[in-house]
Amino acid sequence: MKFYEEKDYDALSQRAANIIAAQIVTKPDCVLGLATGSSPVGTYKRLIEKYENGDLDFSQVKTANLDEYKGLTRDNDQSYYYFMHENLFDHVNICPENTNIPDGTKEDSETECAHYEEVIASLGGVDLQLLGLGHNGHIGFNEPACDFPQATHCVDLQESTIEANKRFFASADDVPRQAYTMGIGTIMRAKKILLVVSGEDKADIVAKAFFGPVTPEVPASILQFHPDVTIVGDKAAFSKIPH
Ligand code: F6R
Repeated sequence: MKFYEEKDYDALSQRAANIIAAQIVTKPDCVLGLATGSSPVGTYKRLIEKYENGDLDFSQVKTANLDEYKGLTRDNDQSYYYFMHENLFDHVNICPENTNIPDGTKEDSETECAHYEEVIASLGGVDLQLLGLGHNGHIGFNEPACDFPQATHCVDLQESTIEANKRFFASADDVPRQAYTMGIGTIMRAKKILLVVSGEDKADIVAKAFFGPVTPEVPASILQFHPDVTIVGDKAAFSKIPH
């Protein structure tokens, strides 16, 4: 695992955007696995700047997002579909048909999840997967459990995740209770993984996930077994890792 400790959120966003830009430049038709949440927002801003400066071309890039709330329509401003358009897709020259996000409006979880795995396989797999890190160690919406879920599946969100995500909704009651998420197996099959993390409130889970035992109780700990993981964090998020 490679760790980049940056001084603050801006610097970590710049570093992460540089790593993604290098992926796009070296393989213009690459498949990016993308994340939502607050952590990657700065990274997306920097990628947009690079596109606007003429340094990046997204015309052949394909994407597959990690997850989506079940039950939210695409025009709901809390859907991850909406988030991705607001924060990246509408600002770069990516072809809409090259972007993929699980469809939260599909009622039949099994069919939608199997379909999403087929979509990823048809893209030839993910070249670089961008991740954030939940306070409970979740990646995507793979919550602490007694095993590592393999494929895309429907999850019941844990109270701590609903609590953490209610800041984006009018109230905790409005946070959907279920989501579709790539499985741990899906994530681990990505050729490269880039995780961005910031803030003191993530310091404990960073230490636990990447320096503690590998266990499904801390889903991100599995990344210790991936051959190509880069973790970009600020000083605060890295403050509890053993030096
Ligand atoms: C988002 C996702 C989640 C977030 C995690 C951290 O697509 O899959 O795992 O990355 O909840 O969220 P933030 O960045 O808001 O702290």
